Amino acid sequence: MSDQKEQRPMGNSHTLQTHLVSPSDTNHLKTIFGGNILAYIDEAAAITAMRHSGEIVVTASVDSVDFYASVKSGQIVNVESWVASTGRTSMLIYVHVSVENPATGEAKTTTTSFVTMVAIDEEGAPTEVPGVYAETKGEEEILEIGRGRKDMKG
Ligand SMILES: CC(C)(COP(=O)(O)OP(=O)(O)OC[C@H]1O[C@@H](n2cnc3c(N)ncnc32)[C@H](O)[C@@H]1OP(=O)(O)O)[C@@H](O)C(=O)NCCC(=O)NCCS
Repeated sequence: MSDQKEQRPMGNSHTLQTHLVSPSDTNHLKTIFGGNILAYIDEAAAITAMRHSGEIVVTASVDSVDFYASVKSGQIVNVESWVASTGRTSMLIYVHVSVENPATGEAKTTTTSFVTMVAIDEEGAPTEVPGVYAETKGEEEILEIGRGRKDMKG
């Protein structure tokens, strides 16, 4: 196997998805179903991983999900994702979910998550991915978190 592919900038695969929460997205407490947020996270993470690697990807694991605040019908959900670190064929994706009140413009973090995506070839076998590098201070912080999580997993 060759050395790791050329590195790519984190900003190239940054993904932002916006959703408007409707009553059918909510539970008896009139807040969004956690499963909807998980689906948003998985999709954004997959798009980021596909953009970064240029390959088909599969979800290998949802490493963590932390819910900090609920989301009500009529609010706007912004889902952002970045490549936080790469392995040989895997990519750790950091996903940040915020809720925006359209009346005031106020936004707050509702959920954060780390998802491992693996690039696969036409036969479904894991295939090499490029490394990632930061171009801004904010991206450098995401790489730092990614390095910390990699050390934690061993
Ligand atoms: C993910 C998958 C491709 C890994 O295949 P595999 O034969 O175990 O491949 P490998 O052992 O070579 O591992 C490939 C990479 O995946 C990583 N990986 C495998 N299982 C993992 C897990 N549970 N969590 C995190 N990373 C994992 C490995 O660490 C390795 O990373 P690296 O190349 O960066 O070092 C395979 O398990 C699979 O297809 N799973 C089903 C995926 C799926 O259908 N997801 C949708 C669920 S709804």
